[in-house]
Amino acid sequence: MIELQKVTKIYKPRRQREVTGLDDVSLKISPGEFLVVTGRSGCGKTTMLNLIAGLARPSSGKVLVDGTDVWSLNDEQLSALRKEKTGFMFQVPSLIPVLNVVENVMVPTMFTAPEKRLDAYEWAKKALADVGLSHKTEAFPRHLSAGEEKRVVIARAIVDNPPYLLADEPTANLDELTEKEVMALLESIHKGGTTIILVTHHPSLIGYGTRHLTMSDGKLTE
Ligand SMILES: Nc1ncnc2c1ncn2[C@@H]1O[C@H](COP(=O)(O)OP(=O)(O)OP(=O)(O)O)[C@@H](O)[C@H]1O
Ligand SMILES: [Mg+2]
Repeated sequence: MIELQKVTKIYKPRRQREVTGLDDVSLKISPGEFLVVTGRSGCGKTTMLNLIAGLARPSSGKVLVDGTDVWSLNDEQLSALRKEKTGFMFQVPSLIPVLNVVENVMVPTMFTAPEKRLDAYEWAKKALADVGLSHKTEAFPRHLSAGEEKRVVIARAIVDNPPYLLADEPTANLDELTEKEVMALLESIHKGGTTIILVTHHPSLIGYGTRHLTMSDGKLTE
């Protein structure tokens, strides 16, 4: 289970005013949920995912992943937790342009246990088959359509079978039909046992998932 206990995140950019990214948010996400959080641009959605993934430190409050207080861990333990627990679909394009599709999907496996590393290529090919892209393994990111790129990003996020998949605007810049395809794919990953937390400003995604929350000005409401 993922739990946020009264989490606040305050950004302090140098020589600029402080910004409250997340404001006293408490939330429990049980295994098996598919949570959709919607809210307008700047309300704190990416901030919340970064906190859940252990990529950002709360200014106050606690983040617990499967009972572990994320920020009580040392660097090594925190890296291990990020690797093993969460797959992340970032909002910004994040494929490495000089690597082909299968190599991009192999990247997370490069940092896991050595015995898994040997099979990284096989794991990556399986993940690409799962997202319907077996025919694009040798292509480079610049040769992909936006929808295919999203699928590769999904494959990379699930290659290590993480229990939690964090999806930040997974359907940005997609046409309606491709959006439906990507969401169907996420639904099938959810059915396979992965807990999903999806954030978006697209109202069209409200109907998906098992639970919907709204965010505004850093606060969450049912
Ligand atoms: N590293 C940072 N330094 C300073 N301020 C930040 C930083 N990251 C985010 N913010 C601010 O925190 C607030 C929340 O940002 P966040 O990126 O979480 O919003 P969002 O809901 O994901 O928006 P979008 O839908 O546009 O992606 C915004 O006011 C933003 O300007
Ligand atoms: Mg965002």
